[in-house]
Amino acid sequence: MSVKISPSILTADFTRLGEQVKEIADQGIRYLHIDVMDGRFVPNLTIGPLIVSALKPLAKQMGLILDVHLMIEQPEHLIPAFANAGANIITVHAETCPHLNRTIEQIHDLNCQAGVAVNPATPLVFYENIIQDIDVALIMSVNPGFGGQKFIQGSLYKITAMRALLEEKNNHHVKIEVDGGIKATNVGEIVKAGADILVIGSAIFNKLGSVSDNINEIRRNIS
Ligand code: DX5
Ligand code: ZN
Repeated sequence: MSVKISPSILTADFTRLGEQVKEIADQGIRYLHIDVMDGRFVPNLTIGPLIVSALKPLAKQMGLILDVHLMIEQPEHLIPAFANAGANIITVHAETCPHLNRTIEQIHDLNCQAGVAVNPATPLVFYENIIQDIDVALIMSVNPGFGGQKFIQGSLYKITAMRALLEEKNNHHVKIEVDGGIKATNVGEIVKAGADILVIGSAIFNKLGSVSDNINEIRRNIS
């Protein structure tokens, strides 16, 4: 699979969110990343199932995969609401799930793909016993909570190590998703390290350029 871009709407213009989503889809992008934050697990409060259900008809029409990233405590309570709202991928943080195997099953039972995310300081060992059960391994390359942060350079080793782990287990199913601080200037090395899906927010949605120009600039730098 060629590397995919999953634009995070966190830094989109919410006064014209539908238009911004169309601009994304018009560039042939097929993922939309929805960053859900509860102000407890991370120091920011963002959006909920309402936005997912509001975007679902447009996503269906444009063939977009709704890639929902739950940066929330006790995600098991809200997973059904996001699944019913129309999420296609639901990613939880290993740090918030003491019963991670059960939570992954809960996501699959709701006919969604299951992702597990780890923060920059969380080791990959958390994947040891669940890598065969998930669809997406999301490696945070910033400390979660805000868009526009700087890529943590040490994440490259983690991406490479995750690629090696998948190869060692002969796992061709799990996609490596990387989230945070990805720009035209560093996207090449991130892809080289082994990323499959790139979550990109402020390098796409910003005042410096149009969505299409920003996406083309990023694509030009993907080796
Ligand atoms: C952090 C968020 C961000 C966002 C991407 O909690 O998850 O990583 O999606 O934002 P940028 O691309 O601006 O770092
Ligand atoms: Zn995210």
